[in-house]
Amino acid sequence: MTAPRETSIRMLYDGSTIADRVERIAERLAENHTRDRLMVAILKGSFVFAADLMRALMRAGVDADIDFLRLSSYGQGTSSSGTVTVLCDVAAEIADRDVVVIDDILDTGRTLAFAREHLLARGARSVETVALIDKPARRQVRIQADHAGFRCEDVFVVGYGIDMGQRYRGLPFIGHVVEDAPER
Ligand code: PRP
Repeated sequence: MTAPRETSIRMLYDGSTIADRVERIAERLAENHTRDRLMVAILKGSFVFAADLMRALMRAGVDADIDFLRLSSYGQGTSSSGTVTVLCDVAAEIADRDVVVIDDILDTGRTLAFAREHLLARGARSVETVALIDKPARRQVRIQADHAGFRCEDVFVVGYGIDMGQRYRGLPFIGHVVEDAPER
């Protein structure tokens, strides 16, 4: 009889490597900050990244305004459904503001492309995009992040806000999910 496969997490980016990358992104965003700029974090996955980015921005001299856009395309599964839905829209006034969209992962690109179009349709003057993890090999939609933290190969990652079936969001690092070989 074959035992069921166990899942384990292999470290990809540790906490200090992530912190360093977040600091660099904040420094770049601070270079062209404007007073009416609005940061928009895409929930749920980006909540940890957005919180750290806001504090890094403050260290870089920027006291930024933030709001949240809750989108979903994966639901409980591990592959994109292909349809992005708005679960909770941005409450702040967006018209004529420069918006920075913050997301944890840029994978097929559907979420970030949808967010960009949605915010432009609501009257944003410009939309700049930030993704902590970019997986270019997975792209289905033509979009690039203006600021990307890590370029990652096509592996399933979790931690630092990113889930697998709503688990692992609280891990203080980003890891790669691996299925261990079953014991015989
Ligand atoms: C994940 C992730 C990104 C999106 C990226 O969100 O947080 O927002 O998928 O994938 P894409 O580039 O293929 O669109 P998910 O829909 O799983 O919701 P969650 O953030 O609430 O976990």
